[in-house]
Amino acid sequence: SSEPLILGIETSCDETGVGIVRGQTLLADAIASSVDEHARFGGVVPEVASRAHLEAMVPTIERACETAGIRLSDVDAIAVTSGPGLAGALMVGVAAAKALAVGLGKPIYGVNHLAAHVAVDQLEHGPLPEPCLAMLVSGGHSSLLRVEDVTVGVDPMGATIDDAAGEAFDKVARLLGLPFPGGPHIDRVAREGDSVYIDFPRGLTARRDLERHRFDYSFSGLKTAVARWVEARERSGEPVPVADVAASFQEAVCDVLTRKAIDAATSEGIEDILIGGGVAANSRLRAMAEERAAAQGIRVRIPRPGLCTDNGAMVAALGAEMVARGRTPSALDLPADSSQPI
Ligand code: KG4
Ligand code: ZN
Repeated sequence: SSEPLILGIETSCDETGVGIVRGQTLLADAIASSVDEHARFGGVVPEVASRAHLEAMVPTIERACETAGIRLSDVDAIAVTSGPGLAGALMVGVAAAKALAVGLGKPIYGVNHLAAHVAVDQLEHGPLPEPCLAMLVSGGHSSLLRVEDVTVGVDPMGATIDDAAGEAFDKVARLLGLPFPGGPHIDRVAREGDSVYIDFPRGLTARRDLERHRFDYSFSGLKTAVARWVEARERSGEPVPVADVAASFQEAVCDVLTRKAIDAATSEGIEDILIGGGVAANSRLRAMAEERAAAQGIRVRIPRPGLCTDNGAMVAALGAEMVARGRTPSALDLPADSSQPI
C-alpha cells in the first residue's frame, strides 16, 4: 500500500502505548500499564508512572513492530502525545519519539492527547464527522469539546470543576469496598441494583449553576453524598445495599454527562457526539447516550472499549490524519507541554 506508516507514542498518564497504523488501518496497539503499581495508592503516582514508562518504552516499541510485521525503518513518521498530562510521564514519550525521528530521519508530529482520543474513532468507524461534539470522560478528564478540525485542535466548551468522572467512579468504588480502578466493578455490580433506589444529586444542574456552568461538570458533591449515605447506613447497623448504591450513583453520573453533552451539541447545531476515555466503556452511559441522542436526532459514536482508554493507536491515528491533511511537522525541539488545555 502507498499509504504512510505511522508510529504513535502515548505516555501522558499510566499507560505506555505504542500504536502503528497504515493510513487509518490499525496494525498494532501495544500497551504496558503501571496501573497495578498505583493500585495501593488509590490513584496514579507521577514518579512511579515516569519510571515505568522508561522501563516499558523500548520493549513496547519492539512489541508493536513485531505485531505489525514491520521494521522500524519502514516507518514514515512518528507521532507523540505532547500534552496535556503528567509532565515527567510526557517527557519520556517525547524523548523517545525524538530519538526515533532523529535516528530514522523521519518527521515528528506532537499531538494533543484529547484530540487523539477523538481521532481514534476513525480506526473503527471511518472518517470523523466534523464538526462534532466530543465528550471525553476518564480518570483524568471530563470535558466537552467542540471539534471543527481534529488536526488543528479541540475547543473546550466545558470541563469538570473538581473530580473527573472516572475519579468519582474510583472513589465511590473504594467506599463500597470494590477494587481499583473501580469503574468496571461499579458497572458490573450496578447491573443487579436499582438505579432509582437513592436520588443522588446531579452536580451543576440547578438553574443558578447553569448560568455560569452550563457545560461544566462537578462530581465531588455526588461522591460526598454517597459517602454520607453509606456512613449513615453503617451507623444504623443495617447492611449497605452495594448494588443499589452503585446503580444509583452510576445513574446520577450518566444522567448529567449525557444531559450536558446533548445540550452542548444542540446549542452548537452539531449532529454528532463522540464519546471517549475510559468511562466511555460504561454500559449504562453507552445505552443512555444512544437513547437520549436518538430522541434529539443526534448520532453517537463510541469506539470499542480498548480504543477508549489511553493507547498508542489513538496517537498514530491522529498523526496519520495530520500527514493526510498536509499539516506541518513539529520542530525537533518540540516540548512536552503538560498544561495544554483540558
Ligand atoms: O482513559 P483511562 O483508561 O485512563 C485515564 O484515566 O486517563 O480511564 C480510566 C478510568 C478509571 O477511572 C476507570 O475506573 C474508568 O475509566 N472506567 C470505567 C469503566 N471502565 C473504566 N468507569 C465506569 N464504567 C466502566 N465500565
Ligand atoms: Zn486520556
